[in-house]
Amino acid sequence: MSAKASDHITSTEWSEIAPTMMQMTASGPGVAPAQHMAEHADKLLPFSKATFIVDMGCGPGQVTNAVLEAHNANIPKSAKFIGADNNAEMLACDALEDDSVSHMLAGFVIFLVPNPAQAIASIKRVMAPGGVLAMCAMLGGDWAKLSMYPLKVCPGLAMDVPPNGCSSREDVTNHLKNAGFTDIEVIDVENHMEFDDYDVVCRFLLNKLPMAARAIAQMTNEQIIQTQEMMVADLKSWYPTLPARMKGQTNIAYARNFNEMPLKLYPALPADADRISEIHMAAFASNAMLLAQFPTREVREGLKESIRLKALADIEDRNITVLVVRDAPLDSDAPDMTGAEDDGRCHHKVEEVLKAPNSEQAQSGKVIAFAKWSHPIGKNEEYEETPWVWPAGTNMQVLESWSKATEEAQDQAMGDLLCYRK
Ligand SMILES: C[S@@+](CC[C@H](N)C(=O)[O-])C[C@H]1O[C@@H](n2cnc3c(N)ncnc32)[C@H](O)[C@@H]1O
Repeated sequence: MSAKASDHITSTEWSEIAPTMMQMTASGPGVAPAQHMAEHADKLLPFSKATFIVDMGCGPGQVTNAVLEAHNANIPKSAKFIGADNNAEMLACDALEDDSVSHMLAGFVIFLVPNPAQAIASIKRVMAPGGVLAMCAMLGGDWAKLSMYPLKVCPGLAMDVPPNGCSSREDVTNHLKNAGFTDIEVIDVENHMEFDDYDVVCRFLLNKLPMAARAIAQMTNEQIIQTQEMMVADLKSWYPTLPARMKGQTNIAYARNFNEMPLKLYPALPADADRISEIHMAAFASNAMLLAQFPTREVREGLKESIRLKALADIEDRNITVLVVRDAPLDSDAPDMTGAEDDGRCHHKVEEVLKAPNSEQAQSGKVIAFAKWSHPIGKNEEYEETPWVWPAGTNMQVLESWSKATEEAQDQAMGDLLCYRK
């Protein structure tokens, strides 16, 4: 089929475009990024913990659809879920309560608004502590190239939309940092536009993509037909067989609103031993004494396992206390942060919970720190601490002379006094 020169698009022509519009919702450029957002946002903050999900700039609802398809069963009944669209400048955030949104999913909208800094600041204001933001930007694609074809026929057309400076990895990262978001990551994701008719998809692009639609409003029917024919010819040469899918490039930025991160202190569980070992190694891996005692990469790998096994034994030892701090974003019983001084920096407030966590608490919240005390042991008490098992290759000479020196220092300082031990 090729377009006929007439003043109005006929109902037959609309009927031909209609299935393409339906197809766009099911297999258009918004679909792969929407699925990525649904999947990755859930990893950062499971939808089972959602309190308020917003599909910002929802359009026909690809993001909402992707979230419901993947997580409907897990979203708490008490959670709110809305789609918001087209509120000039303020991104509809002015209608939302401060600190309320647990999941803000903004599919292909922030890179379009005139003032992205203002839009991101208003998003930040409504995000709940620990909430997750996902936002994506279109970087390019064959359909974007085709949508500029009116310029090939009429080079003087006014069809440029000024870039808003919020689509490249660097720009998006800077905007999010400036607004105070943390844990920012930007992931490149390929997207697609499926089609099974060259004419129909080119007609769709020319009529429905806003920039092309603006352009054809300034063109004669003959020019439009010429443009359409050039688009179809090139599309056929790029994708010679049908059905086909045009390729595009997007990036998706993920960030957290962690400036009021509630931390909780718990007795360590055996399951925390691995993480304790990881934190220990992260803290001391560059320490000169550690490097002298455990001189090669292999030995230090072995040391990590030794630390894990010792942590396991210590956690079970009633003469040793091992505590861990877990971060607890969006925990229903998170500590009250009112009263924290608002200096715009990160506020960490530790709530003391000196009882074993229940299994849900133990799973929620990553261990971010640990502390260990060996209790005072009287001279006559029968007790033997589980010994360290050092990895093969340990420089025992350095290790033993260091141990001896620390024991002597302790003796000098404390003598026979009962004391907490290293
Ligand atoms: C490219 S569409 C994206 C639709 C869908 N979110 C997706 O991922 O495919 C951009 C959407 O953002 C909406 N939009 C544009 N400016 C907006 C604003 N200031 N506030 C809310 N939505 C806006 C448009 O109406 C349109 O539905």
